[in-house]
Amino acid sequence: MSRDRMIGLLESAATLLPVVRGEMSPRGTLEGRIVANLFLENSTRTRVSFTVATKRLGGQCVDLLGSTSSGSKGESLVDTARNVAAMGVDAIVVRCSASGGAHLIAEHVDCPVINAGDGMCEHPTQGLLDMLSLTQAFGTTDLSDRVIGIAGDIARSRVARSAAYAASTLGADVLFIGPPSMVPTSLLGLLDDCGSEKCGTIGISHDLDAAIPMLDAAMMLRVQFERGAAITSDYASQYGLTVSRASRLPDHAVIMHPGPINRGLELDAESADGPRSLVMDQVTCGVATRMAVLMEQFGPHV
Ligand code: CP
Repeated sequence: MSRDRMIGLLESAATLLPVVRGEMSPRGTLEGRIVANLFLENSTRTRVSFTVATKRLGGQCVDLLGSTSSGSKGESLVDTARNVAAMGVDAIVVRCSASGGAHLIAEHVDCPVINAGDGMCEHPTQGLLDMLSLTQAFGTTDLSDRVIGIAGDIARSRVARSAAYAASTLGADVLFIGPPSMVPTSLLGLLDDCGSEKCGTIGISHDLDAAIPMLDAAMMLRVQFERGAAITSDYASQYGLTVSRASRLPDHAVIMHPGPINRGLELDAESADGPRSLVMDQVTCGVATRMAVLMEQFGPHV
């Protein structure tokens, strides 16, 4: 995604925040449209958020969950999506365990396909909503000279990838922090194939305490046990953001987490719920971001 397109989406989403907060009337951009939510992996935030976004814009949703779909009878991801598309839905939002699954579906259906998280690959609207939260907190879409620390299970994280692409596109430097098993040196090349517009750098650190004073934002990520992550008994003491560790962040720095949180492991309750936490803002920004993404597809300017 180009920097201009990203900033356009963030500006559009920012104007929609009063709608999400109930301070402004919603727009009917999706009136008469049906969005199919194919959530073949579990979700709380993303699925509800896309549903609220669609309904706020006057559209309707149909939900297909992995547990109730005919995928359990052996139907493939592409066949599932083609059948849903053949029913005439106007867009498909897909979450799946296969990395590249959303892209694969997009090659086989004619309607817009929105990636709501595909395996260990990408979670693009999460990356965008994280940037909306950050740019609202900092008051600018120019993140040059900012350092965004992304800490935890980076190797298995689609959130880390999308956040890193997005933050770098807005000019930030990204520091991946975690044990070597979760932050391999190969991540240093993450932005190599992203084009010249990615202007921030990628760094890695295995020492959260050393990194903390440098960060403008500490984005803590969940340990993904369901994707094979294993941790040592000292993980929380080495890489958890405790209130005492957070006190060593610069005064202006913010704390983020995409959810769901393993409280007491990657983030303690005081840090998650404290005054510098953006965790609930991220959720609110998620609805505005998904509205902006849907409007980009169906708005009057397209
Ligand atoms: N952040 C996120 O994707 O949360 P869910 O898995 O609950 O959608």
